[in-house]
Amino acid sequence: MSQVTVTEHLLLHQKRTPDATGRFTQLLHDLIISAKLIARSVSKAGLLDVLGETGEINVQGEQVQKLDEYANRVLIHRMERSGALCIMATEENADIIPVSDRFGQGDYIFIFDPLDGSSNIDVNVNVGTIFSIHKRLYGSHPDPGISDVLQPGSKQVAAGYFLYGPATMMVYTTGQGVNGFTLDPSVGEFLLSHPNIMIPETGKIYSVNEGNYALWDSKTRKAVDYFKGTKNRRGHPYSLRYVGSLVADFHRTLLYGGIFAYPKSYKNPERGEGKLRLLCEASPLSFVAEQAGGRATDGAGRILDIEPGHLHERVPLFIGSKNDVDDVMRFLA
Ligand code: AHG
Ligand code: MN
Ligand code: MN
Repeated sequence: MSQVTVTEHLLLHQKRTPDATGRFTQLLHDLIISAKLIARSVSKAGLLDVLGETGEINVQGEQVQKLDEYANRVLIHRMERSGALCIMATEENADIIPVSDRFGQGDYIFIFDPLDGSSNIDVNVNVGTIFSIHKRLYGSHPDPGISDVLQPGSKQVAAGYFLYGPATMMVYTTGQGVNGFTLDPSVGEFLLSHPNIMIPETGKIYSVNEGNYALWDSKTRKAVDYFKGTKNRRGHPYSLRYVGSLVADFHRTLLYGGIFAYPKSYKNPERGEGKLRLLCEASPLSFVAEQAGGRATDGAGRILDIEPGHLHERVPLFIGSKNDVDDVMRFLA
């Protein structure tokens, strides 16, 4: 089968985009290089830890860095040189990162979770990188700023993720469907392996941290009990799968169907809150889910309709097969 590389796929997209400047292609190209660098470090994390424990300095003369800090640094360093951005925002930094015109500026806003599932690194479980791309708004303010970042997910021009696992994969959408690419390490290229991904309308798996059961409100408990019981669409219990890395749990949900949930939990009795971040986790994955025919809600409405209030806003997330998410909405609305 003739393998299509992600570079070819991007150039096809560029050809189909009127007045394309090639900046978007350059942006994704630099993102892909960053992901390859992160994938290489993830595959050696255990070794780096060993070096780190002996306090050794690695071959580049650097102190061994925690992987999520390393991933953050690689992405900031490389993406600011893409010449396509005017602002970046990362889960790891409190404030937005303006991109100076030292390397050339563009109209794109790049928001990312550099290393998702960090708690799983030390036990060699899948982790990932999630990204969301917006175009800056042209309005009253001359310089790009926080208001260009706080856009609803429906305005994203592209979104996706990298999954560092048995294989390294890239899954993304530009609003014309969802495609998956697998890294062939012997070639060093992402090759099209999952064209036009569509999520099954109903699944057989639910994915939630049941350890939080006591912290949920009664509506949430009823919704989760629905999947564990026999009165659901299947007439018998769904299987439970929970990796604890959002990208891994989402990717399985996208391909197999079912539902992933991180409900509001009442650690603080006065107010329940979500754990997952709207801008760099829920919003990009919801764009992918909807482009694949799925649904994504915070329990009240569509994730992609939420107007972000602040940079690190957290939301409850229910995402996956259309029918399974619709069923959850009946319990939560
Ligand atoms: P991150 O590593 O970027 O902070 O994300 C961790 C998130 C997400 O990956 C996962 O779904 C969730 O944390 C798991 O949380 P619990 O351990 O509370 O289930
Ligand atoms: Mn994360
Ligand atoms: Mn993270």
